[in-house]
Amino acid sequence: MKKIFVSAAYPGSSIDRLAQKYDVHVFDKDRLPTAEELAREAQRSSALITTVSDVIDKNIIDLCPNLKIISNSGVGYENVDIPYATERGIFVTNTPNVLTETTADMAWALMVCVARRIVEADSYMRSGQFKCWKPTLMLGVNIHGKTLGVLGMGRIGTAVARRASGFNMKIIYNNRSRNEQAEKAVGAGFVDFPTLLRESDYIVVTTPLTKETKGRFGLPEFRQMKRDSIIINVGRGPVIKEAELAEALRQGLIWGAGLDVFENEPKVDPELLKQENVVLAPHMASASWETREEMIGMAIQSVELALSGEVPLYLVNSEVLSS
Ligand code: DGY
Repeated sequence: MKKIFVSAAYPGSSIDRLAQKYDVHVFDKDRLPTAEELAREAQRSSALITTVSDVIDKNIIDLCPNLKIISNSGVGYENVDIPYATERGIFVTNTPNVLTETTADMAWALMVCVARRIVEADSYMRSGQFKCWKPTLMLGVNIHGKTLGVLGMGRIGTAVARRASGFNMKIIYNNRSRNEQAEKAVGAGFVDFPTLLRESDYIVVTTPLTKETKGRFGLPEFRQMKRDSIIINVGRGPVIKEAELAEALRQGLIWGAGLDVFENEPKVDPELLKQENVVLAPHMASASWETREEMIGMAIQSVELALSGEVPLYLVNSEVLSS
């Protein structure tokens, strides 16, 4: 029986169904597998179902004589050495689309929480500090009628922007290249990066991590943003230099931040933890019951296709077909 290693537990019953046909081992502990545990499991497996936290590099791939597919549950796949997997003839797949709307919901949840100080307000209530209504109590900033700037107008960026029409917002975006389809769909205008920084009241980062996006936001960029602006990151942590964001918040260069992703997950810069005007979430943008079930279902579908000799859907290394 072919072996499949699943590096984390998922909601739903699709893994149980998979286990009726294959020898499936799920790492269902409340921590990540260590490199040694991952290596031990991987070397016996024909398929791996991984997450963004599992580093699948040359060392791991070299241990796996039978590996046909690395099915990464998530839209990002920078944790996998794609060129080497391709060279070795191993399919790499991801789970796009199913998490787009859920991730966009989270970007908005963070926007609302930061702008209207919801987390702070909740602690205020629980600690019994609410003594009387005051016109100056918990003042936030408006969202409606403001300018939303999206960095990365792909599927998730477009879904974030679509939600802005209900808030009567102007939408601008910056992307590697223009996305005319999104411009028509959500009425967004393409601007260069400095204009995005200067004109946005809210910047939502949805970009993947690339050489170009790494460290895109630091003190020089925060200085160009409006003093009452808010930055939200549901893309990848290293796009923002976290220590410099903490400093920008401390100096009041921007009004607030909402982060779902971090530079060195699961660590968070200690200076950032000291700031009140930032809302932090543990990389949970796609974490709804429905979406996580869809993600694992999709990851499993790719594995089943690959193990039955077919080409899986959502291949991120299509060059493997000609290698
Ligand atoms: C994704 O889908 O890339 C999320 O960040 C979880 O990995």
